[in-house]
Amino acid sequence: MKYDQVGTGVPLLLIHGFPLDRTMWQPQLDGLQDVAHVIAPDLRGFGGSEDGASSMTMSDYAFELKALLDEMNIKQAVVCGLSMGGYIALAMLADHPDVVKGLILCNTRPTADDSKAVLGRHAMAHKAADEGMAGIAEVMLPKLLSDATHQERRELSSAVREMITRQRSGGVGAALRGMATRSDRSEMLEEITVPTLIITGSKDPMIPPSASEAMAAMITGSKLVVIPDVAHLSNLEAPDAFNNAIREFMLALPA
Ligand code: MLT
Repeated sequence: MKYDQVGTGVPLLLIHGFPLDRTMWQPQLDGLQDVAHVIAPDLRGFGGSEDGASSMTMSDYAFELKALLDEMNIKQAVVCGLSMGGYIALAMLADHPDVVKGLILCNTRPTADDSKAVLGRHAMAHKAADEGMAGIAEVMLPKLLSDATHQERRELSSAVREMITRQRSGGVGAALRGMATRSDRSEMLEEITVPTLIITGSKDPMIPPSASEAMAAMITGSKLVVIPDVAHLSNLEAPDAFNNAIREFMLALPA
């Protein structure tokens, strides 16, 4: 598994969203290395990590991330995931609870796909296989960043488009099929006892802030940060606000 790591201190595992790779975390690799040992892997089938099975469940990814931590001799990490990365973070907590020292859930939700969403996943997997990633970028890109960002920060918008188009349809299809079968983790939320931070953008069109508010209400002692005027990739659109929230969280963790 390909990964970047920087810094020292409490391990902070950053799990990327769909259909992206570890490079989405560059502002966090740059900005949080003084408060954490920041680790950003490419999930199987994305970026520099090899392709795997034709379907990857959230638990499959979680298993591989646990194996990576084992390989690095890391017993516990703060597990941070954005969107699909958040689905995987919740799978890690369900399947490997001892590894999770804290949770950071960004622009994500605990619920499973409904039947319409499942059909959409399969249609998108076919589109990726038939047409390649440029068509997927057309569909996804407008929803990942706010309109203002697309208009005023062309270099960021282009970088995200490029990140999507360099992914491979095999890995993307496997993730789509895995997301379509993911479990509803809502009931688990009330059982969470590790420190939890929830971050989202006030203009996320993919996963509305109400999903984050609902999670915050269910997780005892959790903190919710809603970053104004940003959409789905809040870590890229507002890196300073995003990093400040994580910095404060890491510094307040029990020893
Ligand atoms: C993501 O950003 O990881 C995905 O768009 C999440 C999803 O499609 O449910």
